Amino acid sequence: MSLSVSFDAIEKQFGPVRVLHGVSFDLAPGRIYGLLGENGAGKSTLMKILAGYERATAGTLSVGGAPVAFDSSRDAEAAGIVLIHQELNLADHLSIVQNMFLGHEKRRGFLLDEPAMREAARVRLNDVGLHKNPDTKVRDLIVAEKQLVEIAKAMLREARLLIMDEPTATLTPAETQRLFALMARLKEDGVTIVYISHKLDEVERVTDEIIVMRDGRFVTRAPTAEVTRHQMANLMVGREVSDMFPAKPPLAADAPVALKVDGVAVPGWARNVSFAVRAGEVFGFAGLVGAGRTELFEGLIGVRARTAGSIALDGRTVNPRNPRDAMKRGLTYLSEDRKGRGLHVDMALKDNLTLMTLERYAHPFLDSGAEREALRQAVSDFGIRTGNLASRARMLSGGNQQKLALAKFLHPDPRVIVLDEPTRGVDVGAKRDIYFLIHRLAAEGRAVIVISSELIELIGLCHRVAVMRAGELVATLGIEQLTEERLIAHATGTH
Ligand SMILES: Nc1ncnc2c1ncn2[C@@H]1O[C@H](COP(=O)(O)OP(=O)(O)OP(=O)(O)O)[C@@H](O)[C@H]1O
Ligand SMILES: [Mg+2]
Repeated sequence: MSLSVSFDAIEKQFGPVRVLHGVSFDLAPGRIYGLLGENGAGKSTLMKILAGYERATAGTLSVGGAPVAFDSSRDAEAAGIVLIHQELNLADHLSIVQNMFLGHEKRRGFLLDEPAMREAARVRLNDVGLHKNPDTKVRDLIVAEKQLVEIAKAMLREARLLIMDEPTATLTPAETQRLFALMARLKEDGVTIVYISHKLDEVERVTDEIIVMRDGRFVTRAPTAEVTRHQMANLMVGREVSDMFPAKPPLAADAPVALKVDGVAVPGWARNVSFAVRAGEVFGFAGLVGAGRTELFEGLIGVRARTAGSIALDGRTVNPRNPRDAMKRGLTYLSEDRKGRGLHVDMALKDNLTLMTLERYAHPFLDSGAEREALRQAVSDFGIRTGNLASRARMLSGGNQQKLALAKFLHPDPRVIVLDEPTRGVDVGAKRDIYFLIHRLAAEGRAVIVISSELIELIGLCHRVAVMRAGELVATLGIEQLTEERLIAHATGTH
């Protein structure tokens, strides 16, 4: 069974802000579509309308030839349409299996049929390659594992039209590969898939056709085989995009060491890790998901326990007790989990920006004029797209939330900056802006540490890249040694 869909002059307004302007296009059954567009183009909003999470303000949505108006995601699911959210949507305090069956519990008589649910969950988890006990609480999972739970959960619903909103943003290459195999199987069964991603190489690999949106409008569509990645980028941005990576800023041979880490251990995650990063240096961290990169830095800033070793900033030994303390001493870490730790999504943009530097704005009463000015500056520096400066962070598109998180963590003007997956979910144009920004920060004499799963990004940006494997720092490669093959070999231990 397969579904055709047609959008006809779809409009969407949030209060006074119009985000979709008469979008019209059709989706044929059994094909994989790549939905492309810059951050804030309206991709997620349009797909939320299709999946019953939002109502269109005007226009007609037809499914299987008949006009529909879904009141809820349950209505859409009943019609065979399932959305895997960009911003993970799981209940942290519930287990994997409880999340997967939330609102769709299997029963035997009046009782929950827990063994049946656990078994069905195990099958789907196995399909997506997550080997965890289904009774594990979601709060104990890392981001990539949560993403796999979301996908497994969608698989349970047996969708005829499946929308994946940046499903691979947090996945490893192996997990991504498995997901693509799963998509190919679904396609063979006639399932229509809408695949939203900023990773154009993946779009090129898995989709049959691309559909491009810009500023809330449909721009064009084309068979994937007929467009190059470069053309995709240009279509999204509406202008020529060139040289993604700026020239690396020169690094003086006598640049002083800004951060020195010696023999640090984070129980369960990292052992005997030592490295030094100089002022003006861009230093990368490569490794597989679970290698302990994030946890190492969480240990360094006091989110996790450190049991051995020492940390020195500008030659002075420090012992950060918590992120705030680390920040005061000049070490700032921007979390990969922007929804969980990066931003307060229910707070205003301005309050997010100035949260860590309130003392600058209180003399002694809060100077909200100055705060607003700082926000205007950040919105322009970081290219944050928002219809309304007074809105809450939740209302920004995924990529724009990432830019706001960057602006927030750089606002205190740290000496050493650790950026964990800084371009996840960010569109090509904005990625390039972030790369230039990273180099500017280094050129100004800061030490910048970039943790990334995109090897191309590490190679394009960094002076040196450290590789972690199973909690140990196994290699550090200099500019002339940086290749994808070498990084992969060290990360997987096949060197
Ligand atoms: N609940 C809301 N209230 C107000 N504005 C909103 C709301 N949800 C989305 N928007 C706005 O709608 C526009 C489109 O957002 P959307 O999330 O659809 O973009 P996107 O194409 O998915 O971007 P990204 O690539 O960053 O995920 C954005 O300007 C966003 O700020
Ligand atoms: Mg989106």
